[in-house]
Amino acid sequence: MGDLTIRPMRPDDVPEAERVSDDGFFELDTRLRRPSEPAPERRSEAHRASWLERTRHFLRTDPGGCWVAEDDTGMVGMATSYRRETLWCLATYAVVPGRQGQGIGKPLLAAALHHGRACTRGMLSSSADTKAVRVYRQAGFDLHPQMYLTGTLDRSTLPVVEKVREGSAADIDLMDSLDRSARGAGHGPDHELMLRSWRLLVSDTSTGSGYAYLNERGQLALLAASNRRTATRLLWGALADGAEQVALHHVTGANQWVLDVGLAARLELHQEGYLGLRGMKLPAPYVHNGALL
Ligand SMILES: CC(C)(COP(=O)(O)OP(=O)(O)OC[C@H]1O[C@@H](n2cnc3c(N)ncnc32)[C@H](O)[C@@H]1OP(=O)(O)O)[C@@H](O)C(=O)NCCC(=O)NCCS
Repeated sequence: MGDLTIRPMRPDDVPEAERVSDDGFFELDTRLRRPSEPAPERRSEAHRASWLERTRHFLRTDPGGCWVAEDDTGMVGMATSYRRETLWCLATYAVVPGRQGQGIGKPLLAAALHHGRACTRGMLSSSADTKAVRVYRQAGFDLHPQMYLTGTLDRSTLPVVEKVREGSAADIDLMDSLDRSARGAGHGPDHELMLRSWRLLVSDTSTGSGYAYLNERGQLALLAASNRRTATRLLWGALADGAEQVALHHVTGANQWVLDVGLAARLELHQEGYLGLRGMKLPAPYVHNGALL
């Protein structure tokens, strides 16, 4: 275990960074699992491939936001972060399980935060790990509890969904402007990444506009809208087109409309982790993504 080095991530580090993050989150899920929850699973090959693609994307757009920690045993920690307009976001942050709580994570996060030093806003989705919440609060983030809904979709509860269409790259300007209203910054190049891998639903009428992405597992991955009515319509559209086993994550207290839809669909409500915000209020109507926020 010799001296610790914190250095910028390189493209050839990405597979090792993925292993560090998978080990870190698998151990976290095992440690924090409630008895009523199913046993945690390792990342699937498909999930691993999308993690690698997303991390390479961050490394391309923000080489100064992606860092690794290493000593003579190899890579022991990683953090990826990026700037979009005036917003800094933390995508992934992990230290290998046997080395946590030994002062590796803090300087790693400091390096990523330095990348966002000129940004007026910050956003991250925090696990419930006691060390993670400690460093985020110390870095000035307000922590807002996240809820999630799960269950088997009862299709008899689905309303008729109208005024929702498939989206495309031609919707990026519209989506960036909705992002700016919700979180102060467009997703910019992240829309290109999401469009490559996910399905996009758009609603754009004279009374409101919004969009929703469904990920490769058929789950809602991100939603933004100009009003609750449009957001509600899009969420029903996403449920109707998504997986039968629903996992609707990252719901904050400012988005009670998600609970109205989820409970009407007979899903169960739970709580997990926090949305960390700096220099901004809770986005609404909005359902953030864990890494692309
Ligand atoms: C979150 C994580 C990256 C932090 O890295 P780390 O190397 O463990 O953190 P550090 O050792 O630098 O410690 C951070 C703080 O937690 C404190 N800490 C250490 N062990 C602790 C424990 N068991 N309980 C509570 N706080 C603890 C440290 O003292 C330090 O606070 P301080 O500077 O005020 O003293 C790492 O613990 C991890 O990978 N956790 C699992 C994955 C995860 O939750 N990632 C974040 C996802 S958003």
